[in-house]
Order: sequence, then structure tokens, then C-alpha cells
Amino acid sequence: PDLASFVKDMPKLELHLHIEGTLEPEMKFRLAKRNNITLPEPDVEAIYKSYGAIHDLQSFLTIFYAGQDVLRQRQDFYDLCYAYLQRASRENVVYVEMSFDPQAHVARGVAFADVVNGLGRAQDDARRDFGIESALIMCFERERSEQSAMEMLHAALPFRNRIIGVGLDSNETNNPPIKFQDVFRKARAEGFRLTMHCDIDQLDTHEHIRQAIDVIKVDRIDHGGNVLERPDLVRRARAHDLTFTVCPVASGWLRKEHAQPVSVVRGMIDAGLKASINSDDPAYMHNNYTIGSTMQAVGDAHLTKADLIALSRNSIMGAWTSDPVRDRQI
Ligand code: ADE
Ligand code: ZN
Repeated sequence: PDLASFVKDMPKLELHLHIEGTLEPEMKFRLAKRNNITLPEPDVEAIYKSYGAIHDLQSFLTIFYAGQDVLRQRQDFYDLCYAYLQRASRENVVYVEMSFDPQAHVARGVAFADVVNGLGRAQDDARRDFGIESALIMCFERERSEQSAMEMLHAALPFRNRIIGVGLDSNETNNPPIKFQDVFRKARAEGFRLTMHCDIDQLDTHEHIRQAIDVIKVDRIDHGGNVLERPDLVRRARAHDLTFTVCPVASGWLRKEHAQPVSVVRGMIDAGLKASINSDDPAYMHNNYTIGSTMQAVGDAHLTKADLIALSRNSIMGAWTSDPVRDRQI
């Protein structure tokens, strides 16, 4: 088959997907109305247009957090998650490990349980309706305090059946992994798997990657492309059998390189690292791209079908799902 139908038919996994980053302008507009919130933009078209201001991580985060303000009730989290899983299943995604950021929601008055139960009910219904499996990763916002992260970890303990791992995201500048050393140590002890963002070209990125591997002892790294500039880190990542969840379209979008940079993926394959392809925040970039269009774009940029299969295998092997789910779905 041609590359497009090959990618379309391939069973796919998502390991790096922020559920708040799947909030499409149409739903944002609808939820704002439902919750009596006045958006700065008068219509859906204007919301799309406002995303043109995204040019780096912080400009994205500002728009991303403002957009989340419409998520106020358990039903909003349900609607968001169900709609995403429905779209994902339509393009043959069979399994998703989706991140959520509870701190911003709790800060605006949403109960932690409403966030997790809203998402969780949608996961259950999507499994029933579309056969798609999913699990949650709770991300800490790294510009907030370690104490705040620790409070979230405690809040998550009763939801261990739904939350399989913890991550670290948001603004990386001056917020190194070791700031959260105790939280991640406790999370590990409580049975959570560990990942964290080491976004492309951030300040001190090599040191952050080193800390993630050697101090925090993560199971995966989200992005992490700068590892390729340091042979010692490449060796460490290989020794730890790390999976990198790379997001070629999103990373390109944040850097205003609207062509998809394939070099990180190619470089990781050639360096013997386990790269996987993911979509990150599809509703905010490139007019709602998908994991399928991401894989196709990466494939078009001179990756072979064999490469795409190897990348998918890395997603399967890097996933944190329990064995029964793995056996049934993959
Ligand atoms: N929060 C949501 N998406 C993110 C990303 N790509 N990097 C850092 N923090 C995020
Ligand atoms: Zn991310």
C-alpha cells in the first residue's frame, strides 16, 4: 500500500498526548458558553487565528493555560476526553497514555476527583463504544513548587487504578528535574512509572536530560532530542533502555518550522535509541493534526515503512500498560 493507507491502517499508540491539548476551538467555544465564560475571541475562527501567536514553548503555554479555563465541571473533562478518544479510534489508535495537568484545574476550583473521574468515565465509555484502551499520566507543572507537586501526588493515591505514571511539564527554564527529586522518589515507591519533559532546545537541556536519567531514573523522556548532541548521554539512555516520546509536528510548530523536522527521529534511530512518534497538543497546532498525519509527515520526510514499524514497536515496548491489555490489544 502507499504510505498514507499504510499509516492509516496501522494500529497506533500515543504515549505523549496532553488531554488539555486536544481541546479544539469548536469545543472551547461550546464549553465557554455552557459555563458562562466570556472568551476574548468572538467566534471559533478568531480562536484559530489567535494560535498564530504561538512561536515557542512559553507563548504556547500562555495560550494553552488560558484555553483550559473553560474546563470547570466533571462533564467538561468527560466531553473533552470522549471526543478525543473517538477521533483517535477513527484513525486506528488502539492505546493512549494521556497526560493531564491537575494543578491548573485545582487552582481554579475544580475538585481533583472531578478531573480524574470525568476523564475516567470517558475512558470507560470510549473503551465500550470504540474498543480503545487508555490510561492516565499525571503531570506536575514544573514552575510550581515541589510542595504543590507533592500534594497532587497524595491526591492521586486513591486513583492508582487509573493513573499509571507521573510526568513533569510546562516551563522548563530554571526548573530542573532535581527540583522534584523527592516527589519522583515517592511516586516510584508508590508504584507509578516516571517520565518527564526535556523539551527541545531549552536552557540547560543536557543537564536536565542527565538529571532525568541519572538522578530521577525515569522510564521515559518526553521529547529529549538534544540527547543526540552528547554521546555520553546517548550511551546512558541506551544503557537504561529509555523510550523517547518525540513529537515532530508539535516541536516544529513551536519553533515556527512548519515543515516537520524529521532529523531528531532519524538521529535517534541511527543512534540506537528508542524513539516513538506522538502528537503532544494537536488542537493548538497545525489545525488539529493527528498522530496519523504526524506519522505520515515523518514518513514522507524519508523514513521507510520499516522505520515506521520500528517506531511503532518502540511505542509498544515503551508503553506502561499492564500485560493483559497489551496481550489483548497489540
Ligand atoms: N504542557 C502541555 N504541553 C506541553 C509541552 N509540549 N511541553 C511542556 N509542557 C506542556
Ligand atoms: Zn508534551
